[in-house]
Amino acid sequence: MSSQPGFLHIIDVYKAYNGKVILDNIDLQVSRGEFCTVVGPSGCGKSTLLRLIIGAEVPTAGRILLEQQSVGPPDIHRGIVFQKYSLFPHLTVLDNISLGLRLGGRPGSKEMSGKEIYEEATAMLEKIRLAEHGNKYPHELSGGMQQRVAIGQSLIMKPKILVMDEPFGALDPNTRENMQLFLVELWEQEKMTVFFVTHDLEEAAFLGTRLLVLSQYYVDDRGNGRQVNRGAKITADYQPPATVSSKAVKQTREFNELIACIRREGFDPDFLQHAEEFNLKHPDSFQTLTREESG
Ligand SMILES: Nc1ncnc2c1ncn2[C@@H]1O[C@H](COP(=O)(O)OP(=O)(O)O)[C@@H](O)[C@H]1O
Ligand SMILES: [Mg+2]
Repeated sequence: MSSQPGFLHIIDVYKAYNGKVILDNIDLQVSRGEFCTVVGPSGCGKSTLLRLIIGAEVPTAGRILLEQQSVGPPDIHRGIVFQKYSLFPHLTVLDNISLGLRLGGRPGSKEMSGKEIYEEATAMLEKIRLAEHGNKYPHELSGGMQQRVAIGQSLIMKPKILVMDEPFGALDPNTRENMQLFLVELWEQEKMTVFFVTHDLEEAAFLGTRLLVLSQYYVDDRGNGRQVNRGAKITADYQPPATVSSKAVKQTREFNELIACIRREGFDPDFLQHAEEFNLKHPDSFQTLTREESG
């Protein structure tokens, strides 16, 4: 993959609310086109990290760069899909999708005619496989279809990064799996950079080209071997088996061993990794050990 390291660059980021540290020294580089999934225990700071990336929150310390530019207030360079509620109920599917183009358009692009907007929205409707449903209202669609509209609404703006916060969390398991397949296929076509938060390990391992564990469970030299909760860190950084648009991978041994490993290293409060021994296996990881030391 002709990846460009540091497309998204998070440097020494801390985030505290009212003096309580939530994120502790986050360092991360994400390449263009990477499908980055983030898992972690509930309340560890996943959504906080996302809000920092889209600029909805400001780091207490540290910097976040997107294509070498500091991240400012939220804008459509960074599309976001939440678990629910990004659609306007009084607008049709087509109007929901074309909304961003109608309200100001893509940054730096020339104004589009009504016809151009309609054509792009119609093409997006096909991409999200809702060609027949453009004139319906959100309440007439299933949950999975509504989330596909939300994805289309975001993607039509050609964001540099598509940020998703548990977007399939409200769907039933069957729909959820179909949406995972849909998103992998879409990513294979579009190769957009994705930052996807979930607390479903299997989902993270299935979707991601890279899987980060964000966790408050670790020890470091500040606690004399005891855990001191100073906020979550990235405690593991994996490259899951190749992202393929087939559910079959979920049945493989490699896949299930990865899940078991992450469950123990990332989610088990009794399994405290030492900060010097973080399991940062991805080539773009910030290594706490040199490559020779980590073997
Ligand atoms: N605006 C805020 N003010 C104060 N505390 C917050 C705020 N947002 C989040 N928190 C706290 O930060 C922690 C992490 O929250 P969050 O990022 O939503 O976790 P996650 O998405 O991993 O479940 C939680 O303890 C939460 O209570
Ligand atoms: Mg959250």
